[in-house]
Amino acid sequence: MKKILGIIGSPRRLGNCEIMVKEISNQLAVSHELNLLRLQDFNILPCRGCYHCLFKTEQCILEDDLNTVIQAMADADAYIVSAPTYFLGINASLKMLLDRGLSFYAHMDNLWSKPAIGVAIAGIEGKEGYSRLVVQSFLKMIFADDKDTRVLYGALPGEVFLNEKNKQAAFELASALFGPKAETFGPSCPHCGGDTFRFMADQRIQCMLCSDYGAATIESGSLSLNIDKSDHDFFSSKEDALKHKEWLLGMKARFFRHKKSLKEITQAYRKQGTWIKPPGKERENRKEDKGTAGEHG
Ligand SMILES: Cc1cc2nc3c(=O)[nH]c(=O)nc-3n(C[C@H](O)[C@H](O)[C@H](O)COP(=O)(O)O)c2cc1C
Repeated sequence: MKKILGIIGSPRRLGNCEIMVKEISNQLAVSHELNLLRLQDFNILPCRGCYHCLFKTEQCILEDDLNTVIQAMADADAYIVSAPTYFLGINASLKMLLDRGLSFYAHMDNLWSKPAIGVAIAGIEGKEGYSRLVVQSFLKMIFADDKDTRVLYGALPGEVFLNEKNKQAAFELASALFGPKAETFGPSCPHCGGDTFRFMADQRIQCMLCSDYGAATIESGSLSLNIDKSDHDFFSSKEDALKHKEWLLGMKARFFRHKKSLKEITQAYRKQGTWIKPPGKERENRKEDKGTAGEHG
């Protein structure tokens, strides 16, 4: 029996994200148990950028619920991720978890390449902005194997299934989870499959999923993309991911090599500006951080 983990990025109980995950589970042909994580139920603190999890303990020093989430991910055979569009992107739920992603490295063997499908739910047709890209990027960065990620529409809780076509979409997504990757229509990045691009001034293009650069040419009336694989790729393969980890570990030696000049650079900015603090925390301004009331010149 497969263990499916539904990762839900919406705080709304029985909202479109939740019922979509449950419907996909209903449509899955393989026998499975469905476990659910509503990300907002968990206390996931913002990453402090201390790199402790990489250099010291292989575990984050923040005391919160991260390990429960990672454990649930490690226990799963596959993921269904669904998150709502807020202001043309996915709400902060996926990013809050992703920002703690350096901690995933210690669990890489248990997380690598799990099949996954993603759904970005938006309330207004065509107003999903970059939501799909966010879900694709999330799946890539948690080391999952994205089989198909789609945008589906529905505003009011439940509305996603006022449209019968979305039941069909749930069926197709369910079939993709343990099947072959969904076919891409139109040009896509030959390395990562991404289909969102930035057109640069120098006629180069950049894939917004893997961040690699290349060129777009029109041959016999159809667009073809040539993307150069960079030598610092993010998670295209387990090898790449481990290479990136090694690169991060190498930053420690680099830091010590440049420590003196880095300190000189940062210290020059130390006393500039006045920090505004939240109520009750005004006294936390350290003496040396006290600024010059924003005066310049
Ligand atoms: C704060 C907020 C911002 C939203 N911004 C967008 C938006 O930019 N584009 C859009 O299509 N829908 C937007 N929506 C609508 C939601 O994406 C939509 O209601 C969706 O069904 C929510 O999923 P849920 O029912 O699982 O919570 C927004 C909703 C909220 C609460």
